[in-house]
Amino acid sequence: MTAPESIVDEIARLRQELNEHNYRYHVLDTPQISDQAYDRLFRRLLQLERENPELTSADSPTQRVGSEPASHFDSVAHEMAMLSLDNAFDDEEMLGFDRRLRDRLEQETGLGYCAEPKLDGLAVSLLYEAGELVRAATRGDGRRGEDITANVRTIKSVPLSLIGDSRPRRIEVRGEVYMEIAGFDALNRNQREAGDKVFANPRNAAAGSLRLLDSRITASRPLKFCSYGIGLNEGVELPASQYRQMQYLREIGIPISRQIERLDSVDDCLDYYRRILAAREQLAFDIDGVVFKLDDIDLQREAGFVSRAPRWAIAYKFPAQEVMTRLLDVDFQVGRTGALTPVARLEPVAVGGVMVSNATLHNMDEIERKDIRIGDIVIVRRAGDVIPEVVAPVVQQREGRPARPKMPASCPVCGSEVMQQSGQAAYRCVGGLFCAAQRKEAIKHYASRKAMDIEGLGDKLVEQLVEKGLIDSIADLYDLSLEQVSGLGRMAEKSARNLLDALAKTRSTTLARFVYALGIREVGEATAEALAGYFGDVEALMDADVETLQQVEDVGPVVAENLRHFFDQQKNRDIVEKLVERGVNWPQVDAAQKQQAQTLSGNTYVISGRLDGMSRDQAAGLLKARGARVSGSVSVKTTALIGGENPGSKFAKAEELGVDIIDQAGFNRLLDDSTSSES
Ligand code: IVH
Repeated sequence: MTAPESIVDEIARLRQELNEHNYRYHVLDTPQISDQAYDRLFRRLLQLERENPELTSADSPTQRVGSEPASHFDSVAHEMAMLSLDNAFDDEEMLGFDRRLRDRLEQETGLGYCAEPKLDGLAVSLLYEAGELVRAATRGDGRRGEDITANVRTIKSVPLSLIGDSRPRRIEVRGEVYMEIAGFDALNRNQREAGDKVFANPRNAAAGSLRLLDSRITASRPLKFCSYGIGLNEGVELPASQYRQMQYLREIGIPISRQIERLDSVDDCLDYYRRILAAREQLAFDIDGVVFKLDDIDLQREAGFVSRAPRWAIAYKFPAQEVMTRLLDVDFQVGRTGALTPVARLEPVAVGGVMVSNATLHNMDEIERKDIRIGDIVIVRRAGDVIPEVVAPVVQQREGRPARPKMPASCPVCGSEVMQQSGQAAYRCVGGLFCAAQRKEAIKHYASRKAMDIEGLGDKLVEQLVEKGLIDSIADLYDLSLEQVSGLGRMAEKSARNLLDALAKTRSTTLARFVYALGIREVGEATAEALAGYFGDVEALMDADVETLQQVEDVGPVVAENLRHFFDQQKNRDIVEKLVERGVNWPQVDAAQKQQAQTLSGNTYVISGRLDGMSRDQAAGLLKARGARVSGSVSVKTTALIGGENPGSKFAKAEELGVDIIDQAGFNRLLDDSTSSES
C-alpha cells in the first residue's frame, strides 16, 4: 500500500521544519520555537513514519536514536591526512611563530589570523556527499581512523544533510566532538546512581561515548560537535580565507565556534588569547587554549607543513587545569556545619596557573570509589575559582600496598565524637555548640529570625564577636557588656545599647524556639515545636532516651539519634544550663498541661495584635499544645481570629469573611476550658 500524497507531503514538510529548527538551535543559536513545540512536531513525524514505514528515510531527523550494536569499528583511510598542531606556551613562543611565518612568506606587514578556542574533545572527520552525511571517522593516527558513522549520526548538532542550494559534491568537515560541563555532570550523576563507571572529565566522557559499539547508548549521551575546518572537497568553490570558509560551513548547516574571530596581527592574537582566557570559566565547555590559523588560504599553501603539523597554525595553550602530583597525606577539615571533609596534602604543583598544595577529596565514599591511597600519584584538577580536587589516582604508578585514608574517631578541632549518620556519606563532629570550627554558625543560627530572633545581631557582628574573643558560645552572648559591644568596629553606642536590649528581650521565649535555636541537626521548627509540646521542659528532653524521643510526632530514628548525640556531650548540656542561668526562660507548664489533651484539634486560629502577658509566639504555643493549628492569614478555613490590642488588617478580613473574633478574655476562657475539660 502506498501512503496518500497528503501524508507524503506532511512528512516532507515536518522533516524540513525540524531540520530548520535544528539548524537555528545548534548552528545559529537563535531557536525560534520552544522545546515543547519542537517535541510536538517531532512526535508527529515519528507517528507518521511508524504508520508508514515505507516512508522512513535515513536522513530523517527521527533517525538519531542509534542502531543495533556493532561487533567492531571498521578502519577507514583519510584521503587527506588529519594533522596535529604545534603548541605555544607563552607570548614569546607565539611571537616567534608569527616571526618565522612572516620571514618564510616574506611579509613585511602583519599577518591576518583566524582564531578560535581549542576545544578539549576528540577530532572527527565528517564526509558529506551530495549533501548527505555518508561517513564519520575518528582521527586515529592521522592516516587511518575508525568508522564511527552510527555513533556520530546520533549527535544532534551534526546535520544529517546539509542545507542551502550550493550543495558541494563532496566535502569533508573536520571538527571536535565534545561534551559540555553540564551534560558531563548530569551523565556522571546518572552513571553513579546506576552504579556504572563515572568519567574523570568531559573529554574522557566524550571519548568513551564515541567509542561505544552500541550507538543507542551513544544517542543518550550529551555529545556536541563544533567544526574547525574543511578537509577534502570536490565540486565547490571555497573562499580563499580561513575565516570565510568557516562562515561558509555555517551557511550550509555546520556548527562553528561562537568565539571565532578574524584578527589583523599577532598583537591582536595576544589580546584574543587573554580575552578567551578570562572568559574560560564562563564557557559551557572545557577548552585548553586557543588556535590561530593564517587566514589567507594561499599563504597557508605556501607555508606548508613540517612533519605532522602545519606551519600556518598554532595552538597557544592555557595553563593546564589537570596535572599529576603526589598525594603526601590526607587530613580532615571540620566545616562550619560540623562535616568532616578529607583534604589532600599534595606535593606542590601548578594547576591552572596557580600553585596548589591542598585539594578536596569530597568524602570517604569518593575516596573509596576512586581507590585513592596515601602516597599515590594523583590527577589534580582546578577549574577557575573552584576548589582544586583530586580526580583519580594513577594506579599504574602505584608501588607496594599503600595505606587507605582513615576517618578519625574524634574531631580534630574539639575532640568530640565523630559520627556517620545512617544512609549518609558525611561524617560529622557532634560538638555543635562549642566546636571552634562550628561555633560561628551555631551563634548565627541561634540569633536568626526563626530561632531567638535577636535583632541587630547579624552574621558580620557574630564573626567580629568570635574573632575578637568576646564570645565562645551562645551562652556568652548574655554576658556581653556595653563597653565590649560599643568597642567593635562600626558600632555606635546607640546600636550597642539596642543590641543589648534586644538580647535581654529575647530571654523570654518559648521552649520550641529555644530547642530550635540550639541548632541540633535536622531539628527544624516543626520538630522543635513537637518536642516542646511533648516534653514541656528542657531537662526532660535532654534526658529522654531514643525510644521515648521517637514517641514524638515527626521524630524518627535519625532525629532521635541526633538529639541523643547532642545531649550526650557534657559541654552542650553545660551551655544549655548556662543559658538558663543567664535568664533564658519560657512559660513553665505544669504536669497536667504536659499531657495536654488535644481539645482544639481540627481548629485553626489566627493571632493578631498584642496580647496581655504573653507574646504571640507563646499564645501560639499554647494553642498548638492543645492540637490546634495556628496560621498567619485569615481565610474561610479559619476557626477564629484571636485579636488582642490593635489587631490590624486581619481583623477587617475576619469580619469580611464572617470568621469568629475572640478577644483577650475569650482567649483566656478558651485555654481554661480546654485545660479543665481534661480533668
Ligand atoms: S585545527 C591542521 N582547530 O586539537 C590543523 N584543532 O592539537 C588541525 N582542536 O587534532 C587542527 N580545537 O582535535 C584545530 N579550533 C581548533 C581545534 C582543534 C580543538 C584539536 C583537534 C586537533 C588537536 C591538535
